[in-house]
Amino acid sequence: MTDKTPTYTGPERVFSGIQPTGNLHLGNYLGALKKFVDLQEAGSEGIYSVVNMHALTMPVAPRDLLDQTRQIAAAFLACGIDPDKSVIFPQSAVPEHAELAWVFNCVARMGWVERMTQFKDKAGKDAERASVGLFTYPVLMAADILLYKATHVPVGDDQKQHLELARDIAERFNRDYDVPDFFPVPEPLIQGPGARIMSLKDGTKKMSKSDPSELSRINLVDTAEDISRKIKKAKTDLLGDMPSDAEGLKGRPEVENLVGIYSALSGETVDSVLSQFGGQGFGVFKPALVDVTVAHLSPITARYREILADPAEIDRALASGVDRARAIAAPVMNDVRRIIGFWQA
Ligand code: AMP
Ligand code: TRP
Repeated sequence: MTDKTPTYTGPERVFSGIQPTGNLHLGNYLGALKKFVDLQEAGSEGIYSVVNMHALTMPVAPRDLLDQTRQIAAAFLACGIDPDKSVIFPQSAVPEHAELAWVFNCVARMGWVERMTQFKDKAGKDAERASVGLFTYPVLMAADILLYKATHVPVGDDQKQHLELARDIAERFNRDYDVPDFFPVPEPLIQGPGARIMSLKDGTKKMSKSDPSELSRINLVDTAEDISRKIKKAKTDLLGDMPSDAEGLKGRPEVENLVGIYSALSGETVDSVLSQFGGQGFGVFKPALVDVTVAHLSPITARYREILADPAEIDRALASGVDRARAIAAPVMNDVRRIIGFWQA
C-alpha cells in the first residue's frame, strides 16, 4: 500500500463492508473477500463490516436479514479472516454509523448524490417508490469508512463512484470545519483481475446476486458439480481458439472474463495463462478452469458449512468485533461532535 494520502499522518487502516443480501458469489470473493484476506496476511489493520443497515434500503424480511448477517460473517471466517487479527462486526451494532451518516447527509450536496448511478440502477423505473435510504446509501457508506478514519478501502469496481463520494465528503468536512487532515481521504483498492467479474452468460454484464439465471454466477456454496456444470455452459464466442496474448482478448468479453477468473484464482498473470492456453480450444481451457476454481473454492465452501453449523461461534466473533469497532469509533465520533458544535455533557 504505497498510495497513502500525502498529508494525513494517522495510521493506515483498511475498512470494507458487504451487504447481507443473498448468496455470495465469485465476484464478491475476488473483488472483495480475497483482497481482505490478502491485506490481513500482509499485516494491515482491517475492519470488515456486515453492513445490515445498507441491506434495509431494499425490502428484506427480518428473519432473512438476521440469518444473512450470520451467513456473511461465516463467509468472512471461511475465507480466512481471522477474528484475532481483523475486526468483523455488524454495522447496526455500532450506532455511531447512523450518527455520522446524518452529519454527512448535511455535508454532501444533493448534486453529488444525484450523480450516483447505482441508485438509478437499483431504483429502476419507479424511483419515486424507492426508499429514501436507497438514495442516501452512499453517504452512509462514507460514514462507515470515515468513522474508523480508514485510509484504504478494498472493493470491486462497481463501488468506485461511491468511494469518490466518500473522498469528496472527507475533503469537504475537513475544509468546512477548518480541520485539515481530520479525516483521511480514503484510497480505493480496486486494481487486479478480480475487480470486475462478469456474468458467465453475458460478458458485458457484471456477475450479480440479482441475476435471475443461476448459470450466470458461481456461488461460494456451489458444489464441485455445480461449478463444473456452470463453467462448461459458460458462454464463449465463435471467434476461434484461445488467443495467445492479451491483445487477442479485445472484443471477446466472455473469454476475457474466463481468463481473468483463472488468473485471479491461480495467481498467474493473464499473459502467463494465455501463453499456456493460446491456440487451444475451450474444450481444453474450461476443464482446467474448473480444476482451478474447485481447488480454490472447495476448502472455503467446506469451512463455510462447518462454521454455519456453529452459530454461537459466529456470534462470539461478531460480539468481540463490536467491542473493538466501538473502541475505535467512539472517540472519532466524540471529536466530530465537538468539531461541529454539538452539545456534550
Ligand atoms: P455487495 O454484495 O453488493 O455488498 O458487494 C460486496 C463486494 O463485492 C463489493 O466490494 C463489490 O464491489 C464486490 N463485487 C460485487 N459484485 C462484483 C463483481 N461482479 N466483480 C467484482 N467485485 C464485485
Ligand atoms: N456499498 C457496498 C456494496 O454494495 C457495501 C459497503 C457499505 C461498503 N459500506 C461500505 C464497502 C464501506 C466498502 C466500504 O458492495
